[in-house]
Amino acid sequence: MAELPQNVKGMNDVLPPEVAKWQFVEEKSRFILDAFAYREMRTPILEYAPLFTRTVGEATEVVEKQMYTFDDRDGAKVSMRPEGTASAVRAYIARSQWNREPVTRWYYLGPMFRHERAQRGRLRQFHQIGAEIFGLPGPAVDAEMIAMLVALFAELGIKAADIEVAVNSLGEPDERGAYRETLRGYFSAHVDKLDEFSRKRLEGNPLRILDSKDPGVQALSANAPILLDVLGEKSRQHFEAVRRHLGDLGVESIIDPRLVRGLDYYTGTIFEIKAKAGDLGAQNTVCGGGRYDRLVSSLGGPEVPAVGFAMGVERVLLAMAAPAESFDPGLTLYIAALGEHARAFALPLAHRLRLAGICTELEHREVGLKAQLKRADALRVRLALIVGDNELATGKLILRDLTTRKQSEVTAGELEMRIRQKVD
Ligand code: HAM
Repeated sequence: MAELPQNVKGMNDVLPPEVAKWQFVEEKSRFILDAFAYREMRTPILEYAPLFTRTVGEATEVVEKQMYTFDDRDGAKVSMRPEGTASAVRAYIARSQWNREPVTRWYYLGPMFRHERAQRGRLRQFHQIGAEIFGLPGPAVDAEMIAMLVALFAELGIKAADIEVAVNSLGEPDERGAYRETLRGYFSAHVDKLDEFSRKRLEGNPLRILDSKDPGVQALSANAPILLDVLGEKSRQHFEAVRRHLGDLGVESIIDPRLVRGLDYYTGTIFEIKAKAGDLGAQNTVCGGGRYDRLVSSLGGPEVPAVGFAMGVERVLLAMAAPAESFDPGLTLYIAALGEHARAFALPLAHRLRLAGICTELEHREVGLKAQLKRADALRVRLALIVGDNELATGKLILRDLTTRKQSEVTAGELEMRIRQKVD
């Protein structure tokens, strides 16, 4: 027997009715992002590999271990994008966007690729809905973005009480540089208590030790010096203003001094949103983001401040309690045509109704009425139209409401109007 083809591990199909829940999340996201004046942009899935090394950072998990990087046929090293910010910045610079408008608000949705250990809420092909704002340095923008996300979650049926908004500040690069040394000193003094992961991080990226999942290291991190305590005046004021604006917007947030994020480009405000409810287990960070005021210039553009976020669609779906079926609107009409003549009559009729925007399934198979109505129920159809030889002879078709089970006679001419009366 032929071997059955398998999907690549960690890369899933999304099929009906699950896809209806995805569409709901996408629609609500677009609705909110539109209202906040973002515009959609789309970038390729493949980028030249150095884009991510230069932005996400060489010493990050993503670049070190998770990228799908390979030689293209012409020898160029390319990577499948592990996230969207680097590409957005590349596009921003390539088209000198700052010359076109002082402030740019972009959003994107699409698949991202990271070769992670696949588990619930952690995939190798996952999907992000993300947004970036270029050109605004102020703390109000950070707060506006976080408040928008809380509003989006509410639209998705995830209440403010079911999420936790954590914020922190990574400060300016020199502040972080000094802190990195302090932290390296602190952890070096306790090197015997560090797990292997953290020991490796000690040289390259000691801030990431704060992110460790090892209980011993976490206990050590709890007493580590805190970056917020050593921030300069400007960074501190910015962060305090973010907190104040969040309060004005009615957003509850906690300060997590150990929040560091896994990507190198951040400066200043960073944030993550965790889902407390739902089906997520350990992978409950549904959204992450922050400022990256130095990234545009570090890639050769001018000094343009920026802030952004991305949420993981699969994780958001797990955090939403409602089952996929409840997002599937079902069909409007099912035409049960009995016999060859009825089917020939129903074909142009169905075509006309479909072109009028009425979602119609026409039964093309030679099966009895009972089986047809059973299929109509399975498709969660509102109305069934029954056409047999009798109905053809009299010109009176039977329209049955599958919710109330009541039926009435209708001519082909009145059909569209009668359907609209019932479903609108
Ligand atoms: P990130 O924290 O790496 O940030 O990813 C954002 C979100 O994507 C995560 O909070 C999570 O929900 C989801 N996610 C990440 N990896 C996976 C995975 N393997 N499986 C399922 N979901 C995943 C970024 O990507 C930044 N580009 C966000 C940003 C935009 N910062 C500024 N602008």
